[in-house]
Amino acid sequence: MQPRFYKKLIAKQLGQDFKSAVEIVELRIPEPAAHEIVIRNQFAGVNAGFDTLLCRGEVPYANLTPPFDLGVEAVGEVIAVGSDVTDIKIGDAVATTVRGGGYREYQAIAANLAIKVRQATPDILTLMPTGVSAMVALEQVGEMGSGEVVLVTAAAGGTGHIAVQLAKLAGNHVIGTCGSDAKSEFLKKLGCDRVINYKQENVDEVLKGEYPDGINLVFECVGKEIFDICVNNLAVRGRLVVVGFISEYAYQLEAVYQPRIYSKLFWKAASVRGFLMPRYGDYIPEARDRILDLFYTGKLQVAVDSTEFKGIESVTAAVEYLLSGQNCGKVVVRF
Ligand SMILES: NC(=O)c1ccc[n+]([C@@H]2O[C@H](COP(=O)([O-])OP(=O)(O)OC[C@H]3O[C@@H](n4cnc5c(N)ncnc54)[C@H](OP(=O)(O)O)[C@@H]3O)[C@@H](O)[C@H]2O)c1
Repeated sequence: MQPRFYKKLIAKQLGQDFKSAVEIVELRIPEPAAHEIVIRNQFAGVNAGFDTLLCRGEVPYANLTPPFDLGVEAVGEVIAVGSDVTDIKIGDAVATTVRGGGYREYQAIAANLAIKVRQATPDILTLMPTGVSAMVALEQVGEMGSGEVVLVTAAAGGTGHIAVQLAKLAGNHVIGTCGSDAKSEFLKKLGCDRVINYKQENVDEVLKGEYPDGINLVFECVGKEIFDICVNNLAVRGRLVVVGFISEYAYQLEAVYQPRIYSKLFWKAASVRGFLMPRYGDYIPEARDRILDLFYTGKLQVAVDSTEFKGIESVTAAVEYLLSGQNCGKVVVRF
């Protein structure tokens, strides 16, 4: 028998960190409207950077007023369908990528927003929207070609490990940065040509010494000094895509005083470009189909971090774990 109530995580107020903003609430499991389905979420992906910024009120395009729902991607099983829904049935496995749909045990959602998948496994959460973001950022913003030098920072993370493989599949020489020996081994197995463990090697010295012509494309997730090093090592006509700046999410942005960035870019005709998935929404359906195909045909390996987070009560710990930088692959919560 299905339970009658479920739990979800909300931001009850804005706060400096995720923990101080959130609260678990219990609600009755909804009935679907005619165009809706009800899903029992089995796994949710953790986007600790976005989650934290949302709870701090620092996501300008969302501009939410508490209370609001949290979490984005989830994968689960359909338990009820509305009377107008014809292409999804009870028992189907579906993925969803709607803001507010992740950190909850059940969700009612318009059927056209659910994506049917073969099985409700956590692997899917490395692809949607994470892998799709990596693909769109590299291809549309970074204008990724082949035969270039591509640098991925936080390369062993949820987004980074997909970016590394997409850059390799496109025929590039790929450098990945990470912060542990275990992650270095993981990246070598994925085919990364040069792994830099930034806790053991000086990234700037490695790039200047081994890549004197510079880096053609940087997929930059970390920020602060790593961002500076990447900008300083861009090649002529190099492109740096700002995918994120995770080193700053838990803190106030550091104010820096130095000559304006155009002095670094101009002489190389290089560029720094921002990427935000919601601003590239029109590319999602095609990229999603292609990334699922790469996965189902065995061309893309996906990694889910092995630390187990179980239940809605564990979401805060999962967010803090990701922000501590320990994870290898995508951090996932199981319900
Ligand atoms: N723009 C978009 O639409 C979009 C979409 C998805 C993700 N993102 C961004 O992509 C980046 C990666 O996100 P993710 O969810 O996949 O996380 P993740 O890469 O799985 O985890 C974060 C990783 O960042 C690395 N890191 C380096 N310096 C760090 C520091 N000072 N503090 C914390 N972590 C540090 C850590 O690995 P190492 O120490 O081994 O490097 C850590 O494992 C984030 O910046 C995120 O905001 C952006």
